[in-house]
Amino acid sequence: MQGRRKWRDAAVVRARTIAEDVRLIEFAVAGPMPRFAPGSHTTIEVDIDGLKAHRSYTCLPADPGFIRVAVRAHQHSRGGSRYMWSLIEGARTRLAVPENRFELSWRASSCLLVAGGIGITPIYGMARALKLKGVPVRLAYGARSREQMAFADELRELLGDDVEFFASNEGRRIDLASEIRMLPADGELYICGPIGMLEDAKRAWVEAGRSASRLRFEVFGDSGAFAEQPFAVEVANSNIRVEVAPDESLLEALTRAGVDMISDCERGECGLCAVDLISHDTAIDHRDVFFSEEEKKQGKRMCACVSRLTGGAAIIDIGYRA
Ligand code: FES
Repeated sequence: MQGRRKWRDAAVVRARTIAEDVRLIEFAVAGPMPRFAPGSHTTIEVDIDGLKAHRSYTCLPADPGFIRVAVRAHQHSRGGSRYMWSLIEGARTRLAVPENRFELSWRASSCLLVAGGIGITPIYGMARALKLKGVPVRLAYGARSREQMAFADELRELLGDDVEFFASNEGRRIDLASEIRMLPADGELYICGPIGMLEDAKRAWVEAGRSASRLRFEVFGDSGAFAEQPFAVEVANSNIRVEVAPDESLLEALTRAGVDMISDCERGECGLCAVDLISHDTAIDHRDVFFSEEEKKQGKRMCACVSRLTGGAAIIDIGYRA
């Protein structure tokens, strides 16, 4: 949980734009910092309108004592990416010692890596590590345009013909079924991208008769099927009603209203922040990877850290008793 994070002071030593809407920020970290593996993420303390909040970012490969992250400018930023983009050399903040929930297993004879947009951040480190160890790897990298593809040159140099770029403005999309077909039976798929891409990959993986344990994924929680809309939530058995703005999460709105919420990952992975829905008058935009497709269809629970209503109002039950 949040309390177990080990915090370190950090100062920005470099910040530059590396692709359209993508900024690379490098921090020098004070104090002991263990080595971290590809797929690790750190939590960074951000300042949003004078209030402290936490945002999670993948750790890119970096020298000992440094943390590098790449941040996409989000159109409907909840304030995190706006803050990160405002950082210049010398700026100071705190960040947490990296944790890893998206690790390479190192047991596959070859790996298929799939990245969508800023989902390249963990995949980039994985590609480098696999190549270094001589594990055969193919990377399919999709984005809206080539200009938005961070690390494209480095990946071309690293992987040669084993990386393929799919820019949707050029009419190219990743054919997940065919990518999976080309992967040996004991191969593994690592994928990071928007929730829609991940759901497609999970479906194609199951249809191909592959073992669930050989598919590993991470999603970025700001990618939903609908644009962010304001919505209202009433907490059953309390006098609490919160208005959730387009640029904040339900978890933030409830916490702001004094509701004692439990959370950890804030990325839609652990399920700790899940709330029960008693009623809702619009669709739920599930942005988590915690609930199964079946559970999402039932619409009885949602992860407050990333998932949202598409407007309207809901009544939730969090076990609160006035
Ligand atoms: S805090 Fe982990 S899913 Fe919301």
